[in-house]
Amino acid sequence: MGSAGTDSDASPGPPAPATLALPASFKWGVSSAAYQIEGAVAEDGRGPSIWDLFGRQQGRIANGDTGDVACDHYHRYREDVALMRRLGIKVYRFSVAWPRVLPQGHGQANSLGLDFYDRLIDELLGNGIEPWLCLYHWDLPQALDDLGGWQNRDIALWFADYAALVARRYSDRVRHFATFNEPNVCTLFGYGMGWNAPGIANRRSFLQAAHHVNLAHGEAVRTLRTLAPGALLGAIHNRQKCLPISAAPQDAVAAGILDACWNRLYSDPQILAEYPPELVDGVQEFRRAGDMARIAQPIDWFGLNHYCPIYARADQGPLGFAWADAPHDVPLTGVGWRIDPAAFRDELIAAHRRYKLPIYVTENGYGANETLDAAGGVNDGGRIAYLHTYTKALAEAAASGVDVRGYFLWSLLDNLEWGAGFASRFGIVYVDYATLKRVPKASFDWFAELIRAQQK
Ligand code: FCB
Repeated sequence: MGSAGTDSDASPGPPAPATLALPASFKWGVSSAAYQIEGAVAEDGRGPSIWDLFGRQQGRIANGDTGDVACDHYHRYREDVALMRRLGIKVYRFSVAWPRVLPQGHGQANSLGLDFYDRLIDELLGNGIEPWLCLYHWDLPQALDDLGGWQNRDIALWFADYAALVARRYSDRVRHFATFNEPNVCTLFGYGMGWNAPGIANRRSFLQAAHHVNLAHGEAVRTLRTLAPGALLGAIHNRQKCLPISAAPQDAVAAGILDACWNRLYSDPQILAEYPPELVDGVQEFRRAGDMARIAQPIDWFGLNHYCPIYARADQGPLGFAWADAPHDVPLTGVGWRIDPAAFRDELIAAHRRYKLPIYVTENGYGANETLDAAGGVNDGGRIAYLHTYTKALAEAAASGVDVRGYFLWSLLDNLEWGAGFASRFGIVYVDYATLKRVPKASFDWFAELIRAQQK
């Protein structure tokens, strides 16, 4: 998302972690996604995912990077959980790779793949960390894409079967399940704009995929309720304010359409049982009688991912908007994303008012193109400054009455940042991709201290 901007790492010195006015039960954690960290893509019977094939196409992932090895978390998860323990977190959100546990997407399960998540969950629990399991963080089995992927309505049932497998296997130890991570990104970028796997750029395909994702969400919630009756179920939505790139009235219209596609196309049907008015005609041809009731299953929590406001400009193409990079006269992260903590606070307040569910911030963090310094560390003052102001904004939202119960930082480790590849680093632990060595950055100690300060 967006182009590289100026790195704002030249801050005068890291602010000390503040004590934030948050409830004692507030949970601090980190988030990850299978494809971005696991590697071992051809090991122990894992089937290919759409990202494996996408990454092999020329120019899809910067620098020709792939998830083949990534952070090698598949083999190094013990070391990574040890880092989490050292950090002092109590919750960890990860995703299961659908093609690792169901190489064909449906049918025969892969017991060696299932074993991996047993090991990971047990390791987390053994270290006093609660596992939060997300079913879908974009790595669709290629075998299902060959059948039409999210454009095939049958996928709602394949997804429910996958949810059943996961619930039967792990719900004795996992209490929090999420269906989708950021359905907006995997459908808009994957089917509407062609930036993400499977690389389709077509408005109709996008809205078809969106409706089927919503149906799959509802079917999975229903399945999880039956098979994991004590579990707390949620969905993770990326909410960002959508701004026009200029004062031109057409850009304001474009920003409104982007807002419908980005902020409302999933959470509104899933929670309020209605499609945004701007898109209701577009999804109509894919809807069948009873769909809205199937989609709008009650859930227990709202996962909110937030990084920055995003920008739109008017466009004659079918989507009705074009993506615009943030202007350069506002503060930017090292990867060109706008820094605006008040926007974070406002999104928390807006989501609380609109959906009336307990909120967990399931992603927030800072990206930069970092290298090790002469002393072999990373003094990431820009990230610390960002986290300092964003966690304060979080506390402001809580003080204004938002029922926010946790914050999962993105991310523990640097990892494969989708199309941006490995150069775009979001970790509080630096990963040297040549050796796979993990080097905690200054922000790691800062975040550990913040968590400790909260517990005093
Ligand atoms: C979010 C994704 C996550 C990561 C962060 C930086 O949109 O959910 O996988 O790429 O952005």
